[in-house]
Amino acid sequence: MFSDGYSSHKRILTGRYKVLSAILTVKDLSISFGSNHVLKSINFELGENEVLGVIGPNGAGKTVMLNILTGILKPTGGTMIFDGKDIASEGVTERCRGGIGRTFQVPRPFEQMTVFENIMVGGVFGAGMSEAQAKEKALKVAKIIKLDDKLDLFAGKLGLLDRKRLEIGRALATEPKILLLDEVGGGLTESEVGLIINLVKEIKREGVSVIWIEHIIRTMLEGTDRVMLLADGVDVITGKPLDVMNSKEVKRVYMGGGDDE
Ligand SMILES: Nc1ncnc2c1ncn2[C@@H]1O[C@H](COP(=O)(O)OP(=O)(O)O)[C@@H](O)[C@H]1O
Ligand SMILES: [Mg+2]
Repeated sequence: MFSDGYSSHKRILTGRYKVLSAILTVKDLSISFGSNHVLKSINFELGENEVLGVIGPNGAGKTVMLNILTGILKPTGGTMIFDGKDIASEGVTERCRGGIGRTFQVPRPFEQMTVFENIMVGGVFGAGMSEAQAKEKALKVAKIIKLDDKLDLFAGKLGLLDRKRLEIGRALATEPKILLLDEVGGGLTESEVGLIINLVKEIKREGVSVIWIEHIIRTMLEGTDRVMLLADGVDVITGKPLDVMNSKEVKRVYMGGGDDE
């Protein structure tokens, strides 16, 4: 259920894109693959300690946007200011070490490595920690993602929920300031989705800002502070979760109607 906690959210001003204090500001971001103009002009701000949900039809360019933010893809145009600086010239490693963490839509843990080792990989290779630091971090992260009782299990033995948790854990081990989640709730049962919503809330409480791409309506209503609709290469509408989910823009994009309301 939508709760008053969100509608009276203090940090976010009511203006369309205005946030009180932005950790990430994206302006006029675009990318084309040949004649496929996937992103035409994306504009948004992610507030400090905010969870911004992102919805949009398949192929809208949501994953592409994350790949641009993490440095995997180079945009055709636009700017990205993260933590006060333009990150255009930074590569994947630099951005990760600077505090941009992400999960992948299809989790691919090292199956022959244990849960603990998989989380450690994030700290060592993602954040550049020493082995000792990464071990300490991995123990903390394992508690947050509730895999602290499965540390010695091979990742290949994990069920889907635990794989998703591990995927989030690997990202958390890099000590992100912003965490980019790409459909971590996909394929889970109702109650498992509830657990992921709680996990994201806990991550937010730890002070991390989150961009959460998801198709599940409940995750947007219960788990985010604002929602952005991405379609036709632009940020169609951004606002409070319930307002966006009930908007004529969402109806138009998903059902091809709503223009005459
Ligand atoms: N590396 C790439 N090269 C060429 N086209 C790509 C590449 N990555 C994504 N695309 C295209 O960009 C579009 C958006 O894809 P994607 O971001 O995965 O959509 P979604 O919103 O479902 O995550 C699709 O048409 C896809 O084929
Ligand atoms: Mg995607």
